[in-house]
Amino acid sequence: MSETLRDLSGNGQNGRESRIFALGGGKGGVGKTVLTVAVGIELASRGRSVCIVDADFAGANLHHVFGFFSPPLTLYDYLVAEESDINRFRLETTVPGLTLIAGCSGRLSLSNLAYQHKSKLLRNLQRIDADAVLLDIGAGSAFNQLDVFNAAHHGLVVVTPEPHAILDAYNFIKLALVRKLHRAFRHHAEVLDLLGMEKLAAFYHTPINFTRLTEQVAQLSNGTHDQWQSILTAFRPAVVFNMLEDLSEQVECHALQIAVQEMLNVRIKTMHFVRYDNGFRRAIRRMNPEGLFSTSGLAAADIRRLVDSVFTPQNGVHHAMGAKSYKSNRYWEEIRDNRKTVICSSTCSLWGNCRHQNGGRPCRIKMLGFLNQH
Ligand SMILES: Nc1ncnc2c1ncn2[C@@H]1O[C@H](COP(=O)(O)OP(=O)(O)OP(=O)(O)O)[C@@H](O)[C@H]1O
Ligand SMILES: [Mg+2]
Repeated sequence: MSETLRDLSGNGQNGRESRIFALGGGKGGVGKTVLTVAVGIELASRGRSVCIVDADFAGANLHHVFGFFSPPLTLYDYLVAEESDINRFRLETTVPGLTLIAGCSGRLSLSNLAYQHKSKLLRNLQRIDADAVLLDIGAGSAFNQLDVFNAAHHGLVVVTPEPHAILDAYNFIKLALVRKLHRAFRHHAEVLDLLGMEKLAAFYHTPINFTRLTEQVAQLSNGTHDQWQSILTAFRPAVVFNMLEDLSEQVECHALQIAVQEMLNVRIKTMHFVRYDNGFRRAIRRMNPEGLFSTSGLAAADIRRLVDSVFTPQNGVHHAMGAKSYKSNRYWEEIRDNRKTVICSSTCSLWGNCRHQNGGRPCRIKMLGFLNQH
């Protein structure tokens, strides 16, 4: 693996650090593109320069949102050009301060991005001269999606509260982590061997067990375990649950959080919620991106909280829709007061085999199928 794919986590140009954000997730249609645009507009309205990159190589469509039918310059043009200054491929949009590097659909060579093109893109992302760079990643968990997601300073997994979307998100997080570990230990035969054993376990329908893997890594040579542990600790994606219609849907979100923490040993950095808002669809249909913020304000207010929390370094990630407000809403108060809906843990000895979990309802995590995930 070349150096270029792992360099990105370094500092940005002009002393600006940690300003590349990727919005990804396994499933299509969950709102990655719309949220990327909404967040971009909100940041731009706060006076930040923003560049959105359409990194949906196979299904680029972000330019439509900004009213471009056939963008004069695209990411494809950049990748095949001799030119190395990516800034020359940015398009002005109708939103002051917001530029776009448009994707290009219908090109086989972009859908199946060649290695040198992916390297060129990842190597040059941090040369984009903007306060924030937002990457809209396409659906799926192929290497292209995972590598772009892992290359960003901050990863946001977008998901809706349906079981299949949650499973896709879980798998996306797991595969992004496995891909990270594979790359970090690519010269370390023993660790690769262990990761290989996990493949074998998957073949026999045993879920990947990161706790067991970590114990095995601890037996290996000095330093390996530390490096392994630091990768697991540093890998902390945020999760954005989009299109919530009802606060009770947050229980599914919590199931994802528990599953990721307990089965992958990964801590989700923050959980965010964006409500369903018909005005979003209208704005997209009318190709009026600013219309995302002229709605009744339900989702727009959630976007503002998301930006407060994740995209404003001086605010850090502890404010707004972080764990505090997440726990203090009506739904969680009801759980606390009535203990109606106990969410079970995979460490329970009756895990998966209990008649009384969730007050007699099926175990949430088992119901969502995490236990069958390899
Ligand atoms: N909070 C929301 N409320 C209502 N509609 C929404 C919301 N978020 C997204 N949508 C709608 O959902 C649809 C899918 O959104 P979008 O295209 O952003 O998904 P995506 O994850 O980027 O899909 P793909 O994987 O195909 O690129 C769009 O019609 C969009 O307007
Ligand atoms: Mg999209």
